[in-house]
Amino acid sequence: MSVKINENYLLLESNYIFSEITQRVEKYQKENPDVDVISMGIGDVTRPLPQAVIKKFKKAVDEMSKKDTFHGYGPEQGYDFLIEEIIKNDYEPRGITLSKEEVFISDGAKCDTGNIQEIFGLENIVAVTDPVYPVYVDSNVMAGRTGPMGDDGRYHNLVYIPCTEENEFVPELPETPVDLIYLCFPNNPTGTVLNKKQLTVWVDYARENNSIILFDAAYEAYISEKDIPHSIYEISGAREVAIEFRSFSKNAGFTGTRCAYTVVPKELLGFDAKGNPHSVNELWNRRQATKFNGVSYPIQVAASAVYTPEGQAEIQESIDYYMKNASIIRDSLSKLGLKVFGGVNSPYIWIKTPEDMDSWQFFDLLLNEAHIAGTPGVGFGPSGEGYLRLTAFNTLENTKEAMERLSKLSI
Ligand code: MLT
Repeated sequence: MSVKINENYLLLESNYIFSEITQRVEKYQKENPDVDVISMGIGDVTRPLPQAVIKKFKKAVDEMSKKDTFHGYGPEQGYDFLIEEIIKNDYEPRGITLSKEEVFISDGAKCDTGNIQEIFGLENIVAVTDPVYPVYVDSNVMAGRTGPMGDDGRYHNLVYIPCTEENEFVPELPETPVDLIYLCFPNNPTGTVLNKKQLTVWVDYARENNSIILFDAAYEAYISEKDIPHSIYEISGAREVAIEFRSFSKNAGFTGTRCAYTVVPKELLGFDAKGNPHSVNELWNRRQATKFNGVSYPIQVAASAVYTPEGQAEIQESIDYYMKNASIIRDSLSKLGLKVFGGVNSPYIWIKTPEDMDSWQFFDLLLNEAHIAGTPGVGFGPSGEGYLRLTAFNTLENTKEAMERLSKLSI
């Protein structure tokens, strides 16, 4: 007998969307070595880590070199010094009380949103908004919770909730009952948001249907408008039905450094086949303790510096910088007559392709004619067809240059 593979992997598209784009851009760059491609595809930051973070980071690395201050294995759930700062700064000012055991430090919201499905049964019906951050879909495909992808670009057994121009990117409640619901707001990829009332509809749905919401709030720092919840726990009753994912990647530049956290309230319950309730917090704790050895000490110290007054000022400066790029992108594209969404409470701008081009045609046009790499909307799901996403994470100079190049295209 030979080794058998997990055949669920064969149901996936051959490449993860961002790897596919990297490959295409690299190929183009190889064939056109003199061209300067401006990357506005993957949502990777360009500004360095804040000085406040670097200072604490270096000091913590130094501690690792001395016998008396060296740190070996840390708690799998994260160090108290960081968890306490998170609760005090990210939640208490919004009237949310969390205990230390409800916050789990990790190496990324991507990993946590991909791994969380493991603690839930395969028979659960999963709902995703469409377009969607592909990790939620792919991780459920890998686990065997879906069938193959149909000709309509949808995996069987997965419930797609379209978020389009027609419904102003506000997901409507599913027509058939669902168990696990992934919501990401501010949304990746559309850059749109839900206000309190709109998010309350989902929390109420989850409470009435015994569903669990997996709420990805990785972009909350970009919210600029009032009445937009930064945390799902601002909605009454959400503690019983929601897990929240947060990250230091996009607010503080940790995309390469890796630090994030997940909140799993103690009230959250899942049920076994006999109908007995079980603590979801305990299951996640058990999973993490077995499969994860925690984020390194220097990185957690570095992340804690985000909450110092100096760190807060620096991250605000970066957010303002990226949001200025976002408004430049929005204004320039609108002037060209393109329809744009997002970019007000989010670093992502979602563009309707001109002249009924499909997403990949518009991607190719931008790459070939303006040397700009975006992300084709269809890479985020079938409702993303006919759209393209640009990020505001490049430098101001490159953003301006990209818009200048675009203005010369006949679109
Ligand atoms: C994106 O471009 O959508 C993000 O980089 C995804 C991520 O943070 O993994």
